[in-house]
Amino acid sequence: MNKAAVIQKILAAESAAPLELGAAYAPANIALCKYWGKRDIELNLPVTGSLSVSLGDMGTHTQISISDRDSLILDGTPMPADHKINARLFSFLDHFRTAANLYFAVESNSTVPIGAGLASSASGFAATVLALKELFQWELSNEKLSVLARMGSGSASRSVYNGFVEWHAGVEDDGLDSVAESLNIQWPEFRIAVLTVSDAPKKIGSTEAMNRTVGESVLYESWPKKTAHDLPIIRQALYDKDISALGAQAESNALSMHATMLGCIPPVCYFEPETIDALQKIWALRKDGVEVYATMDAGPNVKLIFESAAQEDILDVFPELKIINPHK
Ligand code: PMV
Repeated sequence: MNKAAVIQKILAAESAAPLELGAAYAPANIALCKYWGKRDIELNLPVTGSLSVSLGDMGTHTQISISDRDSLILDGTPMPADHKINARLFSFLDHFRTAANLYFAVESNSTVPIGAGLASSASGFAATVLALKELFQWELSNEKLSVLARMGSGSASRSVYNGFVEWHAGVEDDGLDSVAESLNIQWPEFRIAVLTVSDAPKKIGSTEAMNRTVGESVLYESWPKKTAHDLPIIRQALYDKDISALGAQAESNALSMHATMLGCIPPVCYFEPETIDALQKIWALRKDGVEVYATMDAGPNVKLIFESAAQEDILDVFPELKIINPHK
């Protein structure tokens, strides 16, 4: 099924008459059990389920108003119409034009620190869908909103919620069962921190890396098995608030994802020397009894997972860390 047909199905009973303006916020998220590989590229349907933590007040504020032409202002800067960000956003928004002469003026502001390697499309597309909900006054469930956000960017399905979130892979061709849900877990001591080792633009984007890995890497065959093993352990560790079990499995999951990429020819390698250096420092801290674990996404930066009690010991080794309390 194509994207337009799925979106039509979801919006069939919803109002087509917009207000003047809709505004919303969505947090960025970091996966503890990764989404890596699509079973349907157009609909962003994943091969496996995944699980993430949303980053509280780090994310994207978006407002969409009805206009006589399309425009995007990103963090205060008007974006040129032919910029690739505009192309991606407005080809998504094309699916939501309820009249031929209906255009969108979009203003988007990110609260994610520049260069933290968190400027993912997840909070951007989730905030776009939530702003559209306000603009058209849709009466959709969070699950349906997560399906719409997922069609902008896979990981955006998880950014329509705060806290810990699970995205179910689903089995249907139209993906209406490939939805994210909140796990409703409170863990006030949980922290995630970003260690920026490079803020240079990525050499290869996550979509290309994912699609190449699925197509080229024999190691990808083991990924669904790895996730089927890790996801229930990670979910249970969250319910148990067990940082050792959570950290060990989340770290292994992330490093295994990178291993599948290294199996491509030529290899997809996001690791920089500073990435390895940081991982070794994290492992040394653990040897000294400090419970800290790493996760990484499609980039060289390292995210640290720990509880607040370990914060001081960790800051001694990584004074430049940006620490996030996801419950704030
Ligand atoms: O949503 P995308 O297409 O940017 O993919 C995100 C992929 C990872 O960040 C590497 C993993 C994840 O689950 O977020």
